[in-house]
Amino acid sequence: MIKKFDDKRDWFFEKKLGMFVHWGLYALPAWHEQILWRSEYPRKRYEKLVDEFNPTRFDPDAWIDAMLSAGMEFLCFTTKHHDGFCMWDTKQTEYNVMNTPYGKDVLAMLAEACKKRGVKLGLYYSLPDWHHPNYPNIGRHHEMFGPRAGDKPDERAYLEFVRAQLEELLTNYGPICQFFWDVNVAEFSDPSFNETIRRLQPDAVINDRGPSDGDFSTPEREIPAGKEFSRPTQACQAMGRESWGFRDDEDYYSVPFLEKSISTILAMGGSYLLNVGPKADGTLVEENVAALARIGDWYRRVGEAFDGTVPCSSMLGTGATMRIRYEDIFLTRRGNTFYALCPSGLETGTIVLPGFEKAPHSAKLLNDGRSLRPVIDSLPWRWKDKPCLCIRGLPVDEITGEVLVVRFEMDESAVE
Ligand code: GLC
Repeated sequence: MIKKFDDKRDWFFEKKLGMFVHWGLYALPAWHEQILWRSEYPRKRYEKLVDEFNPTRFDPDAWIDAMLSAGMEFLCFTTKHHDGFCMWDTKQTEYNVMNTPYGKDVLAMLAEACKKRGVKLGLYYSLPDWHHPNYPNIGRHHEMFGPRAGDKPDERAYLEFVRAQLEELLTNYGPICQFFWDVNVAEFSDPSFNETIRRLQPDAVINDRGPSDGDFSTPEREIPAGKEFSRPTQACQAMGRESWGFRDDEDYYSVPFLEKSISTILAMGGSYLLNVGPKADGTLVEENVAALARIGDWYRRVGEAFDGTVPCSSMLGTGATMRIRYEDIFLTRRGNTFYALCPSGLETGTIVLPGFEKAPHSAKLLNDGRSLRPVIDSLPWRWKDKPCLCIRGLPVDEITGEVLVVRFEMDESAVE
C-alpha cells in the first residue's frame, strides 16, 4: 500500500493524468530536444535559433483545451531543458525567451491561462545545462563533450544560478503543483534545493531526479515489473516514440498502445504524464490533438476505476497452476466496488478472477455500460483449484480498439 504524504501534496493521488509539454528552441530544427548531444548540430548554430523563435500562434488555451479533452488535470512544462534555453523572463541569463523575436514570457502566459481554467501547473527543469559557462560539461551522458573556449566550469557558481532561477520560478508564477528535476548527471547533492521548493510551494510534489531524494519515482517509457507500486510513482511517456520535443515525421504511438500503457500504470496505483511536443509556431500537432480527444473519450467512461481507488491485484494470487496468464489482469478497489481490467487484451470474453469465491450481484462493462454475467464456476483447465469468479459476456470481438474495464460490487460479507 502506498503511503500518502498526509499534507497538501496529496492532490498527487487524486489527479492522476497530466500533460507533459516539451517546448523550446529545439522545436525549430524539429529533430529531438537533445539535437545538440545526439547529432552533429553545432552549438553556435543552435544558439542562433534565438533569433528565429517566434511562435506567433502560441495559445495556451488551445493547449489546455487539448489536455482537458484527454481527461487530464494538470500540466508540466519544460522551463529549461538541457540546451539551457529558458522559457521565462529570467534575470539570471540572457539566453531566454524575452530575447527572441517573440519577446514574451511564455511561462507567464501559460501560468495565467492555467489559473483562469483551474488547471494545476508543474515545472520541469534540467540540471545539465549546455549553455551556461559554469555548468561542468565534461562529456558524461546528457552533457556536452567538454567545456568550450570561455567556459568556466564551477559547480558552486552554477548551483547559485540554479538557486536564483528556482526562486524566480517558484515565486513569480503562482501556485506550482510539481517540480520535475531532470537528469542529475553531475550528482549534485544538496537538500537545500528541495527545501526551498517546499518552503515556497508547499503543495508541490518533487520528483526523484534532483539534488536530493524527492517524493515520487519517475519510470520513463517503461512499465515497471510487478502489479502494485509501493511508493508514489508518476510514469512519463511521450506521444511519439522518438522524441519529447516536436519532431518532423515523428512515429506517433497508436491510441490503443497509449491506453494500455496509461491503464496499466494507473491500475498499479501510479499517475501518468503524457507528453506533447508543440511545433515552433506554438501549435500542437493536429494528430496529437485528435489522439488526446480519443483517449479522453475512453478515459471518461472507464476512469472511475482509477479515481479514489487503490490497487489490489495481489488478491488474484499468482495463478501458478493456471494456463492463462493472470498476471495480466489488474484489479483496483474502492470499498466493496472492484474494477478489473486486462490492458494486454483478453483471450476470451470471460475475465477469470481467482481470489473471489462468491459472485457479485451484478457486473458492468464501463466502456459501454452493458451488463455482464458474473458466475462462480469450476473450470476444467484449473480443476485442481477452487471454483472462482468468472465474469462473462465481454464483447472482445466487438470492442477491439480499447482497454475494457469491468466494475462489480461485492457484498460486505464476501470480501475482507
Ligand atoms: C529524459 C530525456 C529528456 C526528457 C526526459 C523526460 O531524461 O533525456 O530529454 O526531457 O527524459 O522525462
